[in-house]
Amino acid sequence: MYNVKIIGAGSIGNHLAHASRSLGWQVILCDVDQAALDRTRTQIYPTRYGAWDEAISLMLVENAPRGKFDLIMVGTPPDSHLPIALEALKENPKALLIEKPLCPPSLEGAEILKTQVAQSNTLAFVGYDHVVGKAAQETARVSQALESIETLDVEFREHWGGIFAAHPWLQGPQDSYLGFWRRGGGASGEHSHAINLWQFFATQLGKGRIIEVSAALDYFKTETVDYDKLCLLHFKTESGLIGRVVQDVITSPARKWARIQGTNGYVELTIGHKPGVDRVNWRVTEDAVQEQTIEKTRPDDFIWELQNIDSVLQGKQNVSPISLERGLETMMVVAAAHLSEENKRTVRINYEKGFIPQALELL
Ligand SMILES: NC(=O)c1ccc[n+]([C@@H]2O[C@H](COP(=O)([O-])OP(=O)(O)OC[C@H]3O[C@@H](n4cnc5c(N)ncnc54)[C@H](O)[C@@H]3O)[C@@H](O)[C@H]2O)c1
Repeated sequence: MYNVKIIGAGSIGNHLAHASRSLGWQVILCDVDQAALDRTRTQIYPTRYGAWDEAISLMLVENAPRGKFDLIMVGTPPDSHLPIALEALKENPKALLIEKPLCPPSLEGAEILKTQVAQSNTLAFVGYDHVVGKAAQETARVSQALESIETLDVEFREHWGGIFAAHPWLQGPQDSYLGFWRRGGGASGEHSHAINLWQFFATQLGKGRIIEVSAALDYFKTETVDYDKLCLLHFKTESGLIGRVVQDVITSPARKWARIQGTNGYVELTIGHKPGVDRVNWRVTEDAVQEQTIEKTRPDDFIWELQNIDSVLQGKQNVSPISLERGLETMMVVAAAHLSEENKRTVRINYEKGFIPQALELL
């Protein structure tokens, strides 16, 4: 049983609180805003999970205890993640889970966090939960049967009406970080699950990290918002694999999909193939098309994520696909995408320089 503190009682804070309670953990859920705590107890949690759970302690951040937690989770807007994470690190938790995207595309503080985590006893994770989901894991497993990998595509295309439906207290993107790409919103930040999933498959297939990014972004800028609604990305990895990611906040109905093409066949992943069902289908050599469906609820996403962290803490696995390093690599690609669009040039990522803007070089 773990003692956990969740910072940020918004949409994700509620998911993480529920997932923690499902695993029998002790939860303190805190926020800087009393209205968010009240909304959690009276609205978000009971609406989503049937009833409020009296075992969860709700409190303002300033009243929350410090230094006695196994796991601290940061579920606040992206532009506050790193300062809060650095403070949380001082509490010396066994693990720290920071929500995605890890930070804004400025990358400010990213290298400092990496260094301070390395000097601590804390294991750090970033909340790209899809890569620890059963469907993505199954896709990676089945794709080991593919011979030479020709290309890899991932798309997370989803109109963000669904996000606002889950946040009835927001009128639209202007009311939160979502409407501002520089704060970590827009399609590039919000749907960066797609970049992260691409990186996960490329790593699993032994293709290395993304080293080149060419992007075309469509920004939507008014007096009240400034975000990319469409983010088209071409990648090249260390081993020369070329592939593509599309993220947008305009496609309806949503399409969350991945496809790995080898010389002897393909593997395809469709998230939300039907409500509550993900699908993996594949054909290798002359075999018939095969298909596996995986039933999943929204709470499962976060229960599986916390189980992954638990398993690393217990030493059952050494490397996690949601490690801080992976989340940092995703942020480098998001930052490279904006730089590529701004300059209409391909951007090279030089990881030797660290997770800093100077590691992004125009080709
Ligand atoms: N992994 C996923 O599938 C997933 C799903 C939803 C959200 N997220 C991520 O979680 C993060 C938060 O998103 P959300 O939808 O929950 O936002 P939200 O607006 O619903 O909630 C954020 C909460 O953080 C609080 N907050 C702001 N600054 C704070 C501070 N300094 N200390 C404590 N609390 C503070 C706000 O008052 C608010 O209640 C984002 O990075 C988002 O991308 C991830």
